[in-house]
Amino acid sequence: MYFGTVLLSNIALAVTYGSAFPDFKISSRQNSCPSVWANISFELTGQFATGLGYTDSARAAIRAAFHDCFSGPGGCGRSLILAGELDWDINSSIRDIGNTLSSMAMKYSVGAADIIQFAAAHAIKTCTNGPTVQILIGRREWSTPAPQSEIPGASDSSDTLLSLFAQKGFTDVDLTALIGAHTCARQFTTDLATADASLDRTPGTWDVAFYQQTLGGTVPFSFQSDVSIMHSTQTAPIFQLFAGNVAAWE
Ligand code: HEM
Ligand SMILES: *[C@@H]1O[C@H](CO)[C@@H](O)[C@H](O)[C@H]1NC(C)=O
Ligand SMILES: *[C@@H]1O[C@H](CO)[C@@H](O)[C@H](O)[C@H]1NC(C)=O
Repeated sequence: MYFGTVLLSNIALAVTYGSAFPDFKISSRQNSCPSVWANISFELTGQFATGLGYTDSARAAIRAAFHDCFSGPGGCGRSLILAGELDWDINSSIRDIGNTLSSMAMKYSVGAADIIQFAAAHAIKTCTNGPTVQILIGRREWSTPAPQSEIPGASDSSDTLLSLFAQKGFTDVDLTALIGAHTCARQFTTDLATADASLDRTPGTWDVAFYQQTLGGTVPFSFQSDVSIMHSTQTAPIFQLFAGNVAAWE
């Protein structure tokens, strides 16, 4: 577990001790990371990092956190794991990680919404040059499935995407920055003929190559949605800025 301590030292102090979900209760704040999260970290490290680097489940964990936060009425509330949301996409690449995290939440008696975000932070760190992302533990959870239409699709136009993100309080800059997570991404279901194609040429490295190579047309695969954001008058200048400026993207 070669990065776990770095990550854990940055984890915020509000802590949920859940009984096995769906019931949970909130404990008082603590000054240190409870050992249960260290144990979860250990288990996730085994899944996300191999001798060769980054695994499929690590990338899927990042995407799963996005979906969990983006759907539903109040942010990141584990609705992903409930009520069949994992069954939405045939062959969805987040189904396995969703089921894994659901089991781990029960096994360790922590919040499912929390473990989804914890796993994503862990996965980002697993990427080469991945930053340490602070996450807060203690999310409220709910069991209402979200409307499926809220999740952006790979063929959505920039207008649709800007509007979907604006409804969640995200600006044009936010949207353009967030899709930069496709720096650590592959596609499996959008184009079956090229399943496993990455969205930049360094899918295990957290960098701005996604922006550069999407602009240059030198990526193995691009979503129409990303290309649309690259071209839209509202977001094109931001997309170009990030391509040339890691600090701006970060
Ligand atoms: C504009 C909105 C977005 C659209 C339309 C979109 C669409 C997609 C699609 C279609 C896939 C491929 C799934 C598959 O075939 O297996 C994918 C993968 C991925 N997305 Fe997005 N995405 C968006 C935004 C985001 C955001 C905001 C994040 C995270 C912050 C994210 C993280 C990822 C990751 C990490 C993968 C790779 C999963 C893997 O390699 O298994 N995406 N995205
Ligand atoms: C974490 O793992 C250690 C060592 O296996 C064990 O002794 C401890 O009880 C675990 N803590 C929790 C909260 O699961
Ligand atoms: C994907 O979905 C198709 C059609 O429902 C099914 O036949 C196939 O077995 C699925 N593949 C995987 C890997 O789940």
